[in-house]
Amino acid sequence: MAIERLVEPTASMGDSEEEKIEISLRPMSFSEYIGQERLKNNLRLAIEAVKKRNDGLALDHILLYGPPGLGKTTMAGVIAHELGASLRVTSGPAIERAGDLASILTNLKDGDVLFIDEIHRLRRAVEEILYSAMEDYKLDIVIGKGPAARSVRLDLPRFTVIGATTRTGSLAGPLRDRFGIIHRLEYYKEPEIEQIINRTAKILNTKIQPEATKLLATRSRLTPRIANRLFKRVRDFADVNGDGIIDQEVAVHSLNLMEIDYLGLDPADRNMLRLIHDNYGDRPVGLTTIAALTGDEATTIEDYYEPYLLQLGLLARTPRGRIITEKGKRHLQNPQNNV
Ligand code: ADE
Repeated sequence: MAIERLVEPTASMGDSEEEKIEISLRPMSFSEYIGQERLKNNLRLAIEAVKKRNDGLALDHILLYGPPGLGKTTMAGVIAHELGASLRVTSGPAIERAGDLASILTNLKDGDVLFIDEIHRLRRAVEEILYSAMEDYKLDIVIGKGPAARSVRLDLPRFTVIGATTRTGSLAGPLRDRFGIIHRLEYYKEPEIEQIINRTAKILNTKIQPEATKLLATRSRLTPRIANRLFKRVRDFADVNGDGIIDQEVAVHSLNLMEIDYLGLDPADRNMLRLIHDNYGDRPVGLTTIAALTGDEATTIEDYYEPYLLQLGLLARTPRGRIITEKGKRHLQNPQNNV
């Protein structure tokens, strides 16, 4: 099914316990959403203007891009909530045929927000339908086959697309041009990650000591999704091995158990760095070769592993491929250097 889930602003979704926790942690409004101040300020203004004009026109389409885990989906929920609109969630790969998109679009209501995750993975035929839908709220479809085929143009409600992608580079120009607001989500600052961890602890009724919050924040790759994931594992450790309170000792032990090093890298990150180092030394290596070495998809390396390693300066991008830096080499020699 193309629409994976329908979310009313106040409704929850999902069945598994993990998913329920995940949803309970999601901020609903700008005031609850920590960080990304520039994005929030721009969106607040755009939403206020739409509400003030109240002329039946929808909020401009919004493209959010940046590394995974920084809150693109969460922000889409916040935008819908602030607009007082319904949010429909789907993703590029989930929309297999033009007909799937047609059915999503014709079921929208005026003012709805349609969130399309991984929008860079839309098929060309689907993408082309989206163009006119976004541009003038018309749906061009061909009915029938062969000589009997005819083209019809349907009116659509005024809706807002929020597209999310890890890379704008792979988005076709005509699609990118249809977004009025294009914004990059940035890595968070460490104090913001601390605030997110403390907020999570409060929602999940867990006591965490300030030193432990600080420690977890330094290991979270400046990414809320990772901060919350680590928090849950450390909470498990505290519940099983202690009195449920997360103090520094509990945090250190469980991070060591997960083999998360002082920069927040996990064994898979270090393995990739080591493979590059051992096989290529100071020479650059292409993405597909790295993928062959680690056994991952090239896109997984590009979207998930690489951005933070580049951000930290452990890996560098050159025209001839990726290269491990001096800092990267030093880190491999001593990944726990300040514990
Ligand atoms: N949980 C995940 N991301 C968050 C954010 N940016 N603000 C508050 N809580 C969050």
